[in-house]
Amino acid sequence: MSRGGPSGVQSTPGSRVYLDHNATTPVRDEAIQAMEAALHRAWGNPSSVHAEGMAARAVVENARAEIAALLGAEPDEVVFTAGATESNNTAIRGCAQAVACPGSLVTSAAEHPSVDAPLAALEAAGWRVTRVPVDADGLLDAEAVAAALAPDTALVTLLWGNNETGVVQPLARIAERVRERGVPLHVDATQCVGKLPIELGLLPVDLLSLSAHKLGGPKGAGCLVVRRGLACAPLLLGGPQERRRRGGTENVPGIAGLAAACALAARELPERISRWGELRDRLWDGIQAKIPRVRRNGSAEHALCNTLNVEIEGASGEVLVQALDLEGIAASTGAACASGSVHPSHVLEAMGRSAAAARSSLRLSVGHGVDEAAIDFVLAVLPDLVARAREVPN
Ligand SMILES: Cc1ncc(COP(=O)(O)O)c(C=O)c1O
Repeated sequence: MSRGGPSGVQSTPGSRVYLDHNATTPVRDEAIQAMEAALHRAWGNPSSVHAEGMAARAVVENARAEIAALLGAEPDEVVFTAGATESNNTAIRGCAQAVACPGSLVTSAAEHPSVDAPLAALEAAGWRVTRVPVDADGLLDAEAVAAALAPDTALVTLLWGNNETGVVQPLARIAERVRERGVPLHVDATQCVGKLPIELGLLPVDLLSLSAHKLGGPKGAGCLVVRRGLACAPLLLGGPQERRRRGGTENVPGIAGLAAACALAARELPERISRWGELRDRLWDGIQAKIPRVRRNGSAEHALCNTLNVEIEGASGEVLVQALDLEGIAASTGAACASGSVHPSHVLEAMGRSAAAARSSLRLSVGHGVDEAAIDFVLAVLPDLVARAREVPN
């Protein structure tokens, strides 16, 4: 589809404008090449002791080292999974299972469903779950997290960079306060990897989740970093793989693609932060200049470089997403898994926004392949689409 849809506004013809990088990212060429090479030449079972198996094992172990280097972790702390949902489930259920009887778990009121759902399941099984509120900017207070800790707290689990708003929590301060109390801390860093520096050598975090498809890698691959010595029972039983932390034959091509995406992230990080930040700011400046009655959701100061969440008073986010799509622009109302659902975003509601306000929100997330011309095209068509969406009863 070419840019320049029903509104008649023309831009560079050719590709669509993809502003939904927090839902998933286009797979980078380097990741595709690494996966192809693994499929062709490393198809053996990494647990086999023959040459075919050893070729696959080499891919897996090189990938482990690459990912550990990006995060400042040790290679033997990286446990490959099928993505961040599995990593989050493993961290939460695994740490809960590692203690003798149900106690308490601490989280925030603005988590991803892959954290909320396992916590709710544990709550139903007798655990107490404390959900620390976020403020109007979506930020957590480190002291409030510390105050929620109890002698029987088995785990604190927090989203570092919010997928809907881009709000980045003050993790260093929180981690310090949690460590003082000797409680393990899990962070979902899925939206942070490749968008901000991560140095686990300096950050007292015990478990960290990430997903390949959010950073230019394939879907169905990710990892959980488990710091040495931490008790975390495996979620998947049935094999000794991943040092008995995750049963099942490793997804060798997926792991190769994840490692290639991590290598790119390490190389490109400073440029991404400045470039994506400029594009996001250009978008927000333009929206503010051209569209009345808009507000930005979430802290602008503590934000992922690529994410903009805008509330457009009187317009339905769902209507806007559909109208933008017809113009060749991909955007979202919030979490991809919540799109199309009638429920307003629980993240925005946790920040004190009304259900109506939350339904009027649009998430625009930039990334690889987005340029100034693409942003200007969005700014050229959006005011008209908003004016029309405001006429639709909400
Ligand atoms: C913050 C966050 N955590 C977890 C996930 C789940 O990741 P995956 O699709 O790899 O299971 C996502 C993606 O939707 C996410 O944005």
